[in-house]
Amino acid sequence: MISKQTIDKIFSTIRVEEIVGEYVQLKRAGSNYKGLSPFHDEKTPSFVVSASKQIWKDFSTGKGGTAISFLMEIENFTYPEALRHAAKKYGIEIEEDQREYSEEAKQAHTERDMLYKIHEVANNYFQEILWDSEEGKSIGLSYFKERELKDDIIKKFQLGYSPEQKNAFTAYALEKGYTKEILEKSGLSIFPENTPSGVDRFRERVIFPIHSFSGRVLGFGARILKNNIKTAKYLNSPETEIYHKSNVLYGLNQSKQAISRKNVCLLVEGYMDVISLHMSGIENVVASSGTSLTTEQIKLIKRLTENVTILFDGDNAGIKASFRSIDMLLTEGMNIRVLLFPDGDDPDSFARKHPQEYVEKFIENQALDFIDFKAEILLKEVGNDPIKKAEAIRDIVKSVSFVQNALKREVYLKEVSNKFGLSEQSLFNELDVQKQITQNQTQKAQIKAEAQQPAKLQIVDEPRDQVDPIVFNVTKLENDLINHMLNYGDVVLQRTTPDEQKYEITVIEEILHHFEEDDYEFQVELNKRIVDYIKEGIEKEELRKGNFFFGLMDEELSKAAVNSMNIYSELNDWSTRNIFSPNYGDKIPEQVAGDILIHKFRYVNFLILKTKKELADYADSDESKYFELIKKIQMLTLVSVELSKVLNYSAITGIYSDR
Ligand code: UTP
Ligand code: MN
Repeated sequence: MISKQTIDKIFSTIRVEEIVGEYVQLKRAGSNYKGLSPFHDEKTPSFVVSASKQIWKDFSTGKGGTAISFLMEIENFTYPEALRHAAKKYGIEIEEDQREYSEEAKQAHTERDMLYKIHEVANNYFQEILWDSEEGKSIGLSYFKERELKDDIIKKFQLGYSPEQKNAFTAYALEKGYTKEILEKSGLSIFPENTPSGVDRFRERVIFPIHSFSGRVLGFGARILKNNIKTAKYLNSPETEIYHKSNVLYGLNQSKQAISRKNVCLLVEGYMDVISLHMSGIENVVASSGTSLTTEQIKLIKRLTENVTILFDGDNAGIKASFRSIDMLLTEGMNIRVLLFPDGDDPDSFARKHPQEYVEKFIENQALDFIDFKAEILLKEVGNDPIKKAEAIRDIVKSVSFVQNALKREVYLKEVSNKFGLSEQSLFNELDVQKQITQNQTQKAQIKAEAQQPAKLQIVDEPRDQVDPIVFNVTKLENDLINHMLNYGDVVLQRTTPDEQKYEITVIEEILHHFEEDDYEFQVELNKRIVDYIKEGIEKEELRKGNFFFGLMDEELSKAAVNSMNIYSELNDWSTRNIFSPNYGDKIPEQVAGDILIHKFRYVNFLILKTKKELADYADSDESKYFELIKKIQMLTLVSVELSKVLNYSAITGIYSDR
C-alpha cells in the first residue's frame, strides 16, 4: 500500500489543471478552466476545473473529483494505479507501507499491477530478441526490412519478435520470478496439463505491442511471417483485466498529438497501415485492428477531434459492413469522410509507393462525404431497378437521420435531394420515419445501458417520487449539513446562549453536536462514514473538511467528498443552473443554524412516523410496550409543534424557512 505520507505528497504536488489538460483542451474562465466534457458529447463546454480547489466537475454527466479520480475515470485506473501514474509524472518516489494491507486488497491491486508489469517485461523481451538475437535479426528484423520499415519506426512502435522455441518467453519470465498464474492471466503463456514448462502464446511471429492512450502496453498483436500458412495471419492477446479490445485503438498513443494538431483522425484497419503512414510522415492515424468500430473507440477519438476520415482498401470486401461504423460515427456527432484506395492498394502499400505530399493531397481530394460514398457503393449495384434505387436512397437517408445536429441534417438532406433529383419534402418525410425508428432503438439501448449502470457514489437526492417524502426530506437536509461541514467546516460562528452568553463554535462542531444530541441515525451510509472521520479528527484536534477526504485511500469516500464540494460559488455563469443557491456560502452562520433546525424538525416527524408504524405491531400483543410507544409519540409531537413554532416565527421574520 502507498504510504499516507506519499499520498499527501502526491496530492500537494500534482495540479489538476495539468493532469486534466493532457486529455481536455482547457481554456481559462476567471479563476477556473473550462473545456468540453471528455465523458459526453457536447458543443458548449460544461467541464470545469477549479485550480484553487484542485477539483473538476463535469456538469453534463454529474461526475466530478480530484486529479486522481479524473485519471481513474479516463484511464480506467484503480485508485493506487492512478496515484502511481501521477507520482511518476511528477517524479515523486513512492514509499510503501506494508502494515495496512488487507490480503484481498493486496491481491486485487497487485494483480492488475502485475499484468501491466508482465506486459512491460514481455515488450522489452520481444524487442531485445528482435535486435540482439541471431534468430531475431535474421528472421524478424529482415521481415520488417522486407516490408521497408526503417529502424527508427520499428523502435517508435516498439516492434519485436517472438522466437521459435516453444516456451522461450515463458521460461524467461518464470526465471525472473513471475508466477504461472499471472502468465496465464496475461494470455502470454498457457500451461497444458502435460507441459509444466508452459507454452508461449506467440511463437515465430513479429510482434506489435498495443498501447493505451497514455502509453502502457496492454496486449500484443503478432503476425505470422509467411503469407500462405493456414493459421490466422495475426494472433492477438485475449481479453484480459487490462486489455479490452473494444476500448483500444492501435496507434492512438503515437498519434494523439498529430490528431489534435491536424484536427482530423485517419481511421485504417491494420497495424501496418498505421505504421507505414507514420513512416511517410502522416502521423494522425489509428487502427481499429480488424474489429468493427465501437462507441468507446469513437469517444477516444472524440477527445482529440470531431473529424474522421476512414481509409479503405480498394478491394475490401467488408465495405458494406463499414456502413455500421459510419452510422455510429454520425450518432456520436463526428464529421466523416471516406476514402477508397485504388484496387489492390491499402494505406500501407499506397503510402510506401508515393511521397508524403502526394498521399496527403490524395486523401484530401479523393475522400468523399458519407452521402457520396454510400451512393457510389450502393448505386453501383442497383442498375436501373427503380425499387432497388429507392431502397438505396432510403439507406442513405437513414444515415442522415443519425446526424445529431439539426442544421447539418438539413444540409445533408438538401445534398441528397440535389443528387437524386428528389423533392426535399419527400425526403424530409422519409427522414422523420427513419428518425422515429432510430430514436426508438437508441431509447431502448439507453434504458438497457442505464439498467446496467452501477449505483451512483455521490451524495445525491433520489428522485422524490421513488422515496417516501418524509425520508426524502430528512435525507435532503442530512446531505445539506454534510455539505456545510465539508465546504465550510472551519468557519467560526459567533453564537449566543438563551441566557445571553456569547461563545464561538466551528461549523463542524455545531453540526456534530446536533447529530449527537439527537442520537441521529444517518439515512446515507456514506454520510455516517464521513461524520465518523470528522469525529475522529475532533479527538485529534483536527478540523477535517473536504480536502482531508480527497486524499483518503477510501476512494468511495473521497469521491463523495469531492462531489459535495461547492465549485459553484466561483462560477458566476453557472448560477443559472442553480443547483446550490448561487450565493451558497454567503450566509453560512444563518444557513447552518437554519438547516439544523429544519433537519431536527424533519427528523422528529420521521421518528413519529416510524414509531406509529411500530405501534401497529404491539397493539394486540404487548400492552406496556404499546403505551410506551404512545407516550413517545406524544412527546415527539410536542417537540414537533415547538419546532414548527420556531420555524414559522423564523419564516415570518425572514431569518430562515423550511425550503
Ligand atoms: P489485414 O488482413 O488487412 O492485414 O487485416 P494487414 O494489416 O493488411 O496486414 P499485412 O499488411 O498483411 O501485414 C487488418 C487487421 O485486422 C486484424 C489485424 O489487426 C490487421 O492489422 N487481423 C487480421 C487479425 O486480428 N487477425 C487476422 O488473422 C487478420
Ligand atoms: Mn496490408
